[in-house]
Amino acid sequence: MTRTGRFISFEGIDGSGKSTQARLLAETLRAQGVEVVLTREPGGSPGAEDIRRLVLEGDPDRWSAETEILLFTAARRDHMERTVLPALAAGKTVICDRFADSTRMYQGLSRGDLRALVDQLHDLMIGREPDLTVLIDMDPDTGLARALGRQGTEERFETFGADLQRQMRDGFLALAADNPARFRVIDGDQAPDAVAADVLAAVSA
Ligand SMILES: Nc1ncnc2c1ncn2[C@@H]1O[C@H](COP(=O)(O)OP(=O)(O)O)[C@@H](O)[C@H]1O
Ligand SMILES: [Mg+2]
Repeated sequence: MTRTGRFISFEGIDGSGKSTQARLLAETLRAQGVEVVLTREPGGSPGAEDIRRLVLEGDPDRWSAETEILLFTAARRDHMERTVLPALAAGKTVICDRFADSTRMYQGLSRGDLRALVDQLHDLMIGREPDLTVLIDMDPDTGLARALGRQGTEERFETFGADLQRQMRDGFLALAADNPARFRVIDGDQAPDAVAADVLAAVSA
């Protein structure tokens, strides 16, 4: 009997707790005996991690918006080929910290006409969505304060400020409303354990 695994992505604004909750879900499922691959984008395979560095570090104006979308799509293609699809084929559960919805949001917000390009490239080169996308929704100011409290060199997408955080939140909620079968929206403005319980309930359902 063959059984393909489940593909779960976490999305949400910066500081909403995606990385925290992806890790907690992986720990909980592993404790239940589920084989889990915890991964992230951009990155998640050696080649895609190389591309991540090209995109997230260095001069923000290094790439045009179009080139950047190609780099994100190239990274995602490698991540799918090397990490996600083999794990799913082996029956493992894949938990991914950000996936294509983040590209739709960030690139689409920077220039509205890019959203169609992201979707076209996705259809051509990626061709599948997660089985479940957990959107951690929260107040943008709280998220920004949390994100700014973190250290790191990959600050490119964390210097957008409160206005863009608000637009991002609205954009993610619109994506969820457009794809209700795939998305579950979780209230991220709770203690980590309470968010984790809501996430687990959504995953188990
Ligand atoms: N529910 C929560 N309440 C308070 N702080 C949190 C919560 N979840 C995460 N954090 C903290 O907020 C910061 C951002 O969380 P993180 O998981 O990195 O968010 P994201 O990956 O969505 O940007 C981290 O310092 C994390 O420890
Ligand atoms: Mg994170």
